[in-house]
Amino acid sequence: MNIKSIARFTFTTALFVACFGIKNALAQQDQRASLKDVFKNDFLIGTAMNAQQIEEKDPASDKLIKQQFNAVTPENIMKAEIIQPGWDKYNFDLADKLVVYGQKNNIKINAHTLIWHSQLPAFMRHMQSADSVKQYFVNHIATVAGRYDGKVYSWDVVNEALNEDGTLRKDIFLDKLGDDYIVEAFRLAQKAAPNTKLYYNDYNIEQPAKRAGAVAIIKKIQAAGVRIDGVGIQGHWKAGNVPLNDIEESIKEFAALGVEVMFTELDLGVLPNPWDNATADVSATAKGSKEMNPYSNGLPDSVQQILTQSYTDLFKLFVKYKDNVGRLTFWGVNDGQSWLNGWPIPGRTNYPLLFDRDFKPKPAFYSVIATAK
Ligand code: XIL
Repeated sequence: MNIKSIARFTFTTALFVACFGIKNALAQQDQRASLKDVFKNDFLIGTAMNAQQIEEKDPASDKLIKQQFNAVTPENIMKAEIIQPGWDKYNFDLADKLVVYGQKNNIKINAHTLIWHSQLPAFMRHMQSADSVKQYFVNHIATVAGRYDGKVYSWDVVNEALNEDGTLRKDIFLDKLGDDYIVEAFRLAQKAAPNTKLYYNDYNIEQPAKRAGAVAIIKKIQAAGVRIDGVGIQGHWKAGNVPLNDIEESIKEFAALGVEVMFTELDLGVLPNPWDNATADVSATAKGSKEMNPYSNGLPDSVQQILTQSYTDLFKLFVKYKDNVGRLTFWGVNDGQSWLNGWPIPGRTNYPLLFDRDFKPKPAFYSVIATAK
């Protein structure tokens, strides 16, 4: 071989290795482990979907959703203010689309949510007459839950009805309808949606006092002879500060009531909390500052490791209780789409999910996959 042919040979070999490398990387991406497959005998794995994703206008999300998840919860489009903007005005377009998407892709839909103090339509938010609130309450549940019976898998019938101390939140429903409104919501949902699972959903109900409130709600519904199939612990926690013992106790206590336990809005924020207490109250907002947004240029390895460890610990616990835990749903597909970039402080850069802003799996993804037995 002369110099020229050696050079040609080296170049061709290098080209071959490079092409093979790229092809391999792409193939690896397509053959990437899938959460829904790895945990298929344990629990459903869900994600929240925003309007853009439901309209199939986000191809990268779409690919990842089909690859990784077998359950979805609409992040906003089935909330009262969107689905029933007026007394006789309903807006079912996107929810209907989501139902078709679920059927097409073999994905279960958890509808979210019928009765919640937040994101209420303007026409009823400040309603004074108890009769009018009652009429809204009965119509809303009958119409919306009725339309999707047999089309969605489950409903978060009542969302966030509790205060931190376990008493009932003083919202428009408690105020105008009285203490029994939760049982009544489930009674109406049961009637309208006999083929749909019915859940109570809230944040911080792994905490002892609030958990006792949730236990009391479930027992009261059961004592009234009304159906409740499960309880959703939202799971908006902080990386490095996940209350594992309380979560374990909650799984045991809720499961002992004969209901399915779910983690319904999982995300582990990595940013400083403006308050001493942990809350996921959507109405709680705070002002931003540079100190409150420390990772706008990227997540340091040390924090990435804390996030990975927290997700690993959490999933080990979920796997341990796989007989009681029915579904784990992440609140968003990737970090860039998480509500935690905008709440409780607008305009921050958070990193709470398993996929980064480019839809690439983070170290936490691989380590969660490794917890599967
Ligand atoms: C959040 C959505 O993610 C945001 O897009 C919206 O602006 C506010 O609501 N608890 C719930 C969810 O039950 O519905 C909330 O979702 C997050 C807290």
